[in-house]
Formats: sequence, structure tokens, C-alpha cells
Amino acid sequence: MDILVVVARLAQFAAGAILFGTPLFLIYGYRGAPALALPWPRRLWGASAAVLALGALVSLLAQTAVMAGEPAAAFDREMLAIVVGETAFGAAILVRVAAAVLALAFVLRVPAGRGLWGMSSGLGAVALASFAWTGHGAAEPGPAGAIHAAADVLHLLAAGVWLGALMALALLLSTRRTPEPDLPATHAALARFSGIGSLVVAALILTGLVNSWFLVGPTRIFAMTDFAYGWLLLIKLALFVGMLGMAASNRFHLTPALNAALARGQPGLALAELRRSITMEALAGLAVLGLVSVLGVLAPVSAQ
Ligand code: HEM
Repeated sequence: MDILVVVARLAQFAAGAILFGTPLFLIYGYRGAPALALPWPRRLWGASAAVLALGALVSLLAQTAVMAGEPAAAFDREMLAIVVGETAFGAAILVRVAAAVLALAFVLRVPAGRGLWGMSSGLGAVALASFAWTGHGAAEPGPAGAIHAAADVLHLLAAGVWLGALMALALLLSTRRTPEPDLPATHAALARFSGIGSLVVAALILTGLVNSWFLVGPTRIFAMTDFAYGWLLLIKLALFVGMLGMAASNRFHLTPALNAALARGQPGLALAELRRSITMEALAGLAVLGLVSVLGVLAPVSAQ
């Protein structure tokens, strides 16, 4: 059941980051007429909303079984009613399913444009924020718990901005997905994202430190390597540093190189290098989501 919980968490984190972050990217980054001409947004958001709703239901069933200590309880109506009606976890799952179903309805009905992008991103944000109540984010009572939950919500949204933008850029740079890319608009979007990128990184570090304060603790830093949780968090931080390096190379080297190549009318090589780097960064981001999917079901260092 734990494996099912972890896989369902990963699917939901990825779908939530896409549903929040890619329409947002079409609002601040790749905007206007070129964005309206893109062939993939509706399918991508429809699939993300469906994965989010299904993943949340699987999480509910699997977590109910884990709470009851027996697999059969996953389908026990009374048990499910208690989890949904009497736990913060259950309430958060309900909010997430409602946001996902609404997003799916909008994606199927509302014409492409800033209205649809704003609504999809807003509902994606609600779904992402709900994770603070289905993991370690809201574990403490009182004011400390409120600070931790608020920091975790900001952490999730910052992660969604970064990973959602990477997903959009990977699709924009893919000749299969975007057969006729508007390269000047893509370059402009990369430059705008770089501007927002620094804010996102600062927010992730600050809120990550708050998370670490509660889940590792200032006096337990040197005990991290005694526990699986500690090792996984360290691996996550190493991946984060790697992503920072790739992001810096995109910003200060590959994006200016694309601009120069566009001016020469020969974007081929610069585009291929950028495509490779963005894909690697996105895969590292997916690996980070994989790690936090496991971290959320392990006992944190501070509790051991
Ligand atoms: C690419 C950068 C990062 C991404 C995409 C990311 C993403 C996430 C996500 C999705 C969660 C799960 C939240 C939840 O289940 O409520 C999380 C939790 C966490 N993050 Fe990050 N994060 C990043 C960087 C950082 C950094 C720089 C730090 C530390 C300074 C950090 C520390 C933590 C901690 C301690 C948790 C709690 C894990 C748990 O559930 O027990 N993260 N992160």
C-alpha cells in the first residue's frame, strides 16, 4: 500500500505542477497570438486534471487501508466516511478532486485564451496547496503548524512555477509537439522566465529551510545520515543544486546563444542544445518530485 501511496503522490505532484505552472507560463512568458496557436495545452491540462482526480482517489483508498492497518479497509464505506468526514487528509483530498474535476470541465468547455489559462492555473494552485494537508506540511498544532503549512503551500507553488515552466518549454522546443514554433516568442519567454526564476529559487530555499526546521530540526542536522529520510533529503538538495547549475547555464549561456543564432538565421544548433538542457532540468525536477513522494510517507528526522 505504501508503494501505491508513493506512486499516487508522484502522479499528483507532477499533474498539479503542470496544471498550475504551464497555463501560468502562457500568461507571463509565452503569450499572445503564438500561445493561442499552440496545439497541446488543452490535451495536456485535460490529462493532468484527470490524473490529479484519479490519483487523489487512489491516495484516499490506499491511505484509508494504511490507517486501518488492513488492505480490505480501502473499500470499507464506514472507514472511508470517517477518513473523508473527520480528517484533514480527507478534506484535502475532497478539495483536490473538486479542483481537478472543475479544471477538466473548463478545459473541455472554455475557449483558449487568458480566461482558460487563469482558471486552469488557479485550480491547479488549489490542488497543489492541498498537499500541505496530506503530507508532513500540517503536522504540528497551533501557530507553529500554521507557519509550517503556509511555508509548505508556498514551497509547493514555487515548485509548480518552476516545473510547470520547464514542461511548457520542453514542449515548445520539441519539434514533434510544436511543429511550427515561434522562435522569437520562445526566446522572449525564456528571458521572462529567467527573470521570475530567481524569485522562485529564493522562495524554494526559504520555505525549504522552514520545512527542514520542522522536519529535521536545528539540533538534528548531523543526525540526518542516520536515517533514510535524511539521506533522501540530501539527495534532493544535490539534485536542486544540479538544477540550479542547468538553469544558470540556460540563462547566461544558452538563451543568449539562441538569440545570436536567431540573428544569424541559423537557430538549429543553439535550439538543440537548449532543448537538451531543458529536458535534463525537467527530468531532474521529476526526480525531485519522486523523492518528496517518498519523503512524505517516511518518519521525519525530527520525529526519530
Ligand atoms: C527544485 C527545487 C525543489 C522542488 C521542486 C521541491 C519540491 C517539493 C515538494 C513538491 C514537496 C512536498 C511538499 C508536501 O508534500 O507537502 C517538498 C517538500 C520538502 N522540501 Fe522541497 N523542493 C525543492 C527545493 C527544496 C529545497 C532547496 C529545500 C531545503 C532547503 C527543500 C526542503 C523540503 C523539505 C524539508 C520538504 C518536506 C518533505 C516531507 O514531506 O517530509 N526543498 N519539496
